Amino acid sequence: MLAGSAGAFFALTSKKGSAFATQTRRVTVNANSEIGTIKPELHGHFAEHLGSCTYGGLWVGKNSSTPNINGYRKDAVEWLKALGVPVLRWPGGCFADDYHWRDGIGPVEKRPKRVNMWWGRYVEDNSFGTHEFIGLCRLIGAEPYLAGNLGSGTPAELRDWTEYCNYPEGSTLADERIANGAREPFKVKYWGVGNENWGCGGNMSAAEYAAVYKRYATFLGGRGGWGSTDHYLIACGPNSNNVQWSREFLETIGQRLRMVHGFAMHYYSRGDALPTKFTVENVQKQLSTFDGMEKAVVQQNSILRSFEPEGRIGLLVDEWGVWDRMDPDEEKRLGRLWQQITIRSAVASAMGLNVFHRHANKLVMGNIAQIVNVLHSMLLTEGDRCIRTPAYYAFDLMKVHRGRTSLTVDTESKGPLEVSVSASRQGGSLAVSFVNPKHDEMARVECSLTGVRARGATGRILTHSDFNACNTFDKPDTVAPAGHKVEASGDKVSLDLPPMSIVTAVVDLA
Ligand code: AHR
Repeated sequence: MLAGSAGAFFALTSKKGSAFATQTRRVTVNANSEIGTIKPELHGHFAEHLGSCTYGGLWVGKNSSTPNINGYRKDAVEWLKALGVPVLRWPGGCFADDYHWRDGIGPVEKRPKRVNMWWGRYVEDNSFGTHEFIGLCRLIGAEPYLAGNLGSGTPAELRDWTEYCNYPEGSTLADERIANGAREPFKVKYWGVGNENWGCGGNMSAAEYAAVYKRYATFLGGRGGWGSTDHYLIACGPNSNNVQWSREFLETIGQRLRMVHGFAMHYYSRGDALPTKFTVENVQKQLSTFDGMEKAVVQQNSILRSFEPEGRIGLLVDEWGVWDRMDPDEEKRLGRLWQQITIRSAVASAMGLNVFHRHANKLVMGNIAQIVNVLHSMLLTEGDRCIRTPAYYAFDLMKVHRGRTSLTVDTESKGPLEVSVSASRQGGSLAVSFVNPKHDEMARVECSLTGVRARGATGRILTHSDFNACNTFDKPDTVAPAGHKVEASGDKVSLDLPPMSIVTAVVDLA
């Protein structure tokens, strides 16, 4: 970010009886300065066998009284399809390293019952397995990403899962898949080789993990896969910005670096209060973490590039999002890590996506945790009811950027809570997303365009005057998007950004 002229002035604006200072923010979008394509996968998602994410959230079962499509919750399918889920990671998380894929195939009544050791020790009946997951991906149009078990499995087990999914026909495993109802290979490209192996995935050191990773990767088909799909093997990266983990892993893997296609870091933004009880201090502390996330992406990428300058290995953030304090009663009623989502969580989503857009040349995927009912979710369910969270609408507002070319943006950044911006272009259309993370300050945005001229614009906004506002089952539309005035002409675009707001302006170029 570049410092422009300060150019700020203050005014007092009255909004519903409260006074907000208004500050002018100057921004420049450089249409001739391209960063790279915003891969749709940067807007990816994650579903685990955790709480009511998979069971009860996405999957209600074929005999459920909840409206469903072959067992998948109908509202969830329709809303996720409308949002677009470019890629969906499953079955964990920590659950992945205790999951044995064979438990989840074949006749449902014969599937074994296991204890989900990580998330509540409930009995997992395996009624949602590989075929059900692939079915969901097809219904919502998502690319599947399977997280394999390295912590408690064997290389043979994971190897067989890849063959079961992807070998076209004629091998015993491929024919078993066909007998189980899937004639066509699943064509799964993304394979996680373990998850958080520094913690729940086996408590390994980076050097230990690198040794085990090499052994697994040797048997996973690699490029060329099993004839139907290239396998993209994803290694476990650091927790937040743990540079020591990354360096030690990359050093130890040494000559076998070519066996790594992706390197996945996790970055959670902790909250110090129950989601709807945040104080100003809690809001500021959590939203400030996105500055740390941006620095982590930059630093982890430069470590990767120092070992592999060609840029073949992609960096992923395959778990991210806000992780607030949980209400034990709510967790008991609605499932582990069930978390209400507020406008503040939506602002956090948009700040995260802006980081990904600004570093589109460094990242290949981002998966917010998790898609339904767990942590930073898009949808919340209770019984038959399903609602869209403010985070869903934040993703919806940012959706226009997918597949476009990210452009550099100069702002007058004065710290982590400054207006956050990302911009992208496709042909005659320029999209710019602005986020105001301040709870008490209106921003008047004066945006200059270099290299292009505007002839009009439309805008959409997500905002609420109460940063703890959320959608509930009784009031599902408390936080919902609306149209927003954006002025655009020549090399100028201007708009107002209320406190706690996200605006995406789509500018028609001359
Ligand atoms: O998303 C919840 C948990 O967070 C995942 O299971 C784990 O990978 C991470 O610690």
